[in-house]
Amino acid sequence: MHYQKIKIGDNVVEFHNNFLGRETVVLNGQIVSQKASTMGVDHPFTIIETGEKINYILTSKVDGNTWEALLDLSREGEIVEENIKVSHGIRSSKNKRKRSGIKKIVDYDIEEGIEDLIEGLKKTPKDPEIYFYLACGYAIQEKAVEGFEALKNAVAFNLQSVEEILIHDMLAFLRIQKGFEAFLDSNFTEYDTTQLTHLLPVKAPENYTKGAAFYDKKEVFDIYIQHRNREDTPNGSIEKPIVMRLLAEVSGEVLDVGCGYADIATDLIAMGIKKYTGIDASARMIELAQSKLQAPNVTLVQTSLESWDYGTSKYNWVIARLVLNYVADVKAIFQHIHKALKKDGCLVFSVEHPVLTSSMNLPRLPGKKESWLVDNYFTEGDRRQDWLNSGVIKYHWTLETYWQLLNDIGFQIEALKEGLPERINFKSEREYQRRKRIPLFLVIKARKC
Ligand SMILES: C[S@@+](CC[C@H](N)C(=O)[O-])C[C@H]1O[C@@H](n2cnc3c(N)ncnc32)[C@H](O)[C@@H]1O
Repeated sequence: MHYQKIKIGDNVVEFHNNFLGRETVVLNGQIVSQKASTMGVDHPFTIIETGEKINYILTSKVDGNTWEALLDLSREGEIVEENIKVSHGIRSSKNKRKRSGIKKIVDYDIEEGIEDLIEGLKKTPKDPEIYFYLACGYAIQEKAVEGFEALKNAVAFNLQSVEEILIHDMLAFLRIQKGFEAFLDSNFTEYDTTQLTHLLPVKAPENYTKGAAFYDKKEVFDIYIQHRNREDTPNGSIEKPIVMRLLAEVSGEVLDVGCGYADIATDLIAMGIKKYTGIDASARMIELAQSKLQAPNVTLVQTSLESWDYGTSKYNWVIARLVLNYVADVKAIFQHIHKALKKDGCLVFSVEHPVLTSSMNLPRLPGKKESWLVDNYFTEGDRRQDWLNSGVIKYHWTLETYWQLLNDIGFQIEALKEGLPERINFKSEREYQRRKRIPLFLVIKARKC
C-alpha cells in the first residue's frame, strides 16, 4: 500500500492507495476523494484559506522507469509541489508480467492481461494480487468457476483488503452467482460449482439438430410433451391466449404450419371453422396429433414447411405457432403463405421473442430465467441452443426484419404482441411476476392485401 502525508498550511492531506489501485485522499481526517486508478488520476478538493475557497488537485502518477508512485499538487491550476515520492506498493513490484497483467486487466485488455498474469505466477506463484486480478479478468469473461478459484487462491495466499472482493466493480459477475454467499460464508475457501454459471459445454456441430429432426428424437419429444403438460407453461399461459385472441374471427379453411400435435385444432373446430389442415415434419408429432383428432374436417400431413405445396388462394387463415424459428429462409415461407391465402385472409404467427433468440446460444445462469442478457441482436441467422437436454439450431430475426418482410411481401400488420402475461392465465402469482420480466414471444396478425 502507498501512503503519503502532505501539509498544506494547517491542513493535513493524506494519500493512500491500496494494492488494488483504489486511491483515497483524506483532508483533515475526512475522505475528499476516492477513485480507482492505474497510472494516475486527479483528486480535486478544496481548502478554505482566509475565508476563500481554494481549489487543489492532488494527481497520482507513476514514474515510467522506476515504477515508483509519485504525486503532484496543484493550487488553483498551478503546480506547487511536483514528484512527491510515495513509498511501497504494487507498482514497485519487480514482477514485470504481473505489472503489465494488472495494467491490461484494468484497461479491459482481458485476454492478454490474463496471459501476462499467468506468466507472472511462474515468478511469484503465491502472489495474492495476481490471483485477485485473474479473478477480475475471469469475471469480465463471465467464467465463474475460474473466477471463484482465483479468488480462493488470492485469499489462501493472504490477500489484504479482502473486503475489496465485495465492492470491486470488475467482480460483479462473480458476486451475482447463486453460490457467492456460501463462498463468502466459507471465508472464500469452498464453493459449489453447481451454483455457478458454466460456459455451456461446446457440443460437436453434428449434435445440434434442426427443426423436426430435433423433435423426433425420442428423449426430446418426451420431455417436450411433459413440459407442455405442466402448469403455467409459457405456451399455455402466455402464447396461446394471445394467439386465440387474434384468432377471434377465425373461419373457413385453416392451414396450421408446424402444427406439432395440433394442440389448437380442437379449439378451432369448436369455434366453427370449416376445415383444419395441419402440417408438420415430425413423424412423432403427426402421429400424436392423429391419435387425438379424428374429425372428418381435419387433415394432418407429415411434411416440411419448405417442401409443402401450399397452393394458391386456398385458405382463409394460416397459423404458424413457434415454428418459424426453425426455418432458415423465413421470407420464402411468408411468400408461400401469402400466395396460399385468399384475398383478405390472415396469417397469425408466434415466434420466440427476438430478444431471446438473439443471445440464446450464450451461457446463462442455471435455474429459472430471472433476467436475460441481450447480445448480438442485429446479427441475424442461426443460433445453437442447448435445450431439452439436447442441442437444436434455431434462427434469429429482428423485430424490424419481421415487420419489413411482411410489409414487402404484401401483408398488412393488424396486431403485434410481445407476450404480455395476464394474471388470469397463471395459477401462481410468483410465476406471473417472474414472467413479467422477460418477453418470451412475439405474436403477429397480418392480413393479405
Ligand atoms: C415448438 S413446436 C410448436 C408446435 C405447435 N405449433 C404448437 O405450438 O403447439 C415446433 C414444431 O415445428 C416443427 N417443425 C420445425 N421445423 C419444421 C419444418 N421445417 N417443417 C415442418 N415442421 C417443422 C417441429 O416438428 C415441431 O412440431
